[in-house]
Amino acid sequence: MRDAIIQLAYLVAAVMFIFGLKGLSRPRTAARANLIGATGMLLAVVVTLFDQRILSYELIVIGGVIGALVGAFLAMRVEMTGMPEMVALLNAFGGGASALVAGASLYETVPFTGSAPLDFLIAAMISTLIGAVTFSGSLVAAAKLRGLINDAGKSISGQQLLNAALLMGAILISLWLVLNPTQLWLFWLVVLLSVVLGVTLVMPIGGADMPVVIALFNSYSGLAASATGFVLNNNALIITGSLVGASGLILTNIMCKAMNRSLANVLFGVAGASATGPAADEVYAGKVKSTSPDEVAMLLEGAQRVVFVPGYGMAVAQAQHAVRGLSDRLDKLGAEVEFAIHPVAGRMPGHMNVLLAEAEIPYDKLKEMDEINPTLGQVDVAVVIGANDVVNPLARTDPTSPIAGMPILDVDKARSVVVLKRSLSPGFAKIANPLFAADNTLMLFMDAKQGVQEMITALDELTE
Ligand code: TAP
Repeated sequence: MRDAIIQLAYLVAAVMFIFGLKGLSRPRTAARANLIGATGMLLAVVVTLFDQRILSYELIVIGGVIGALVGAFLAMRVEMTGMPEMVALLNAFGGGASALVAGASLYETVPFTGSAPLDFLIAAMISTLIGAVTFSGSLVAAAKLRGLINDAGKSISGQQLLNAALLMGAILISLWLVLNPTQLWLFWLVVLLSVVLGVTLVMPIGGADMPVVIALFNSYSGLAASATGFVLNNNALIITGSLVGASGLILTNIMCKAMNRSLANVLFGVAGASATGPAADEVYAGKVKSTSPDEVAMLLEGAQRVVFVPGYGMAVAQAQHAVRGLSDRLDKLGAEVEFAIHPVAGRMPGHMNVLLAEAEIPYDKLKEMDEINPTLGQVDVAVVIGANDVVNPLARTDPTSPIAGMPILDVDKARSVVVLKRSLSPGFAKIANPLFAADNTLMLFMDAKQGVQEMITALDELTE
C-alpha cells in the first residue's frame, strides 16, 4: 500500500513536470508552468523522504541547508550575462552527483552480496560514465566562458583518436566491471577515464560554440540522472532525467540550427573557433557615419514602422526598461513597433525574451527571426541595440567567416539602420561587421542605456 502511494505520487509529479515543460514554451504561461514544475519537484522530494530506504534525515537536512545556502548565494550574485556559466556549473554538479550516487550504490550493494543484478550494474556504469564526462566537460565549458581558459579552440594532434581511445577504454572497463562486480576499484578507473574524456572533448571547442556544448551537457546530465533512477529503482528520477535529456537534445538541435553548425561539427571540428574574415580597417575605413541621439529622435519621429533588435550589449547595459520607455513613446506617436529576436542573441537561450519580459514589453511585439525577416525591407528604421553578430551580413556573403551560413536578422534591408553600441569593437565571434559601414546605417556610439535614455529626452523635446 505504502509503495503504491509513493508510485502514485511520483506519477502525479511526473505529470506536473510534463505540463510544466509544455507551459514553459510560451512566455505567457511560463511563470505558472515554472510553479507547476517546482510543485511537482517538491512532491517528489517529500515522497522520497518518506520512503523507507532513507538512511539519515540529519545528513539530508545538513546537505539540503548547505546546498540551499550555496545555491541562493550564487543565484543572487550571478549577473544575467553570467547565466550560461551558471547553467554549466549546475550541469557539472548534476553529472557529478549521478556518478557518485551510482558509485555509492555499487559500494553499498556488491561487497555484501558479492554480486548484483545485471540491469543494476549496467545502469550504474552508464550513470558513472555519462555523469563523469558531464562533470569535467561542463567545468571546462564554464571555465572557458569565464575566460579562465583561453576560449579559442585548439586542436590537439590526434585529438579524435585520443577521445575514441578514452571512450572505448571507459566502455570496456565498465563491461568488465559488470561481468566481475567484485572488482569495484575499476569504478574509479572508469571515473578517471571519463573525467579526462570530458576535458579532452571540450578543450578544443571554440568559445563561440560553448552554448551548444552546454545545452548538450544539460541533456547528458539528464541521461545520467535517468540511469541513476534505474540504479535506485526510482521512477521519478527516471522520468525527470529522461525529460531533461530529451529537452536538452531539442535545445541543442535548435541552437545548432540557429548557429548553422551541425552537432558533429561542433564536437569534432574546430571550425568557427578562430576569428577570420576581413580586417576591421578594410571594412570600416572612411565609411562609418556616426550620429547623435537628437538625429535619431528626428528619424524615429517620422517613422511609421520601427523594429528594435536587442543583443548582448542591451543585456550588459541593462537598457531594457529604457527601451520599453522609447517603444511606448513611439506607440503613442502612432508608429508600429516590433522587436526582432534572434535565437542566439545575448549569451543564453531566451536571453532577450527574459529581459524584455522583465521590462513588461507586450509579448505580441516580440517577433522571431523567421517571422520578421521577410518584412524587414518595409521597415523605416531598424534600431540595433548592442547586437552585432546576429545582424552581421558576412554570415550571408563570406563563406570563410566563422559565422558563415548562420541565419541572421536582415536589418541591412531596412530603409535606415541605427546601431547603438560603444565602439566598433567586434561581438562574440570577433569579426568586423560591414553593416556598420553600410550606406543606410548610422552609428550611435554610446552605452545602450544612456543612448536610449537620451533618445527619449530628444524625442520628448521634439514632440512637446
Ligand atoms: P555580440 O555579437 O556578442 O555583440 C554584442 C555587442 O554589444 C558588442 O559588439 C559590444 O560592442 C556591444 N556592447 C557591449 N556592451 C555594451 C553596452 N554597455 N552598451 C552598448 N553596447 C554594448 O552580441 P549578439 O549580436 O547578441 O550575438 C550573440 C553572440 O553570442 C553570437 O555570436 C552567439 O553565437 C553568441 N552566443 C550566444 C549564446 C546564446 S545561447 N544566446 C551564448 C553564447 C554565445 P561595443 O563594445 O562596441 O559596445
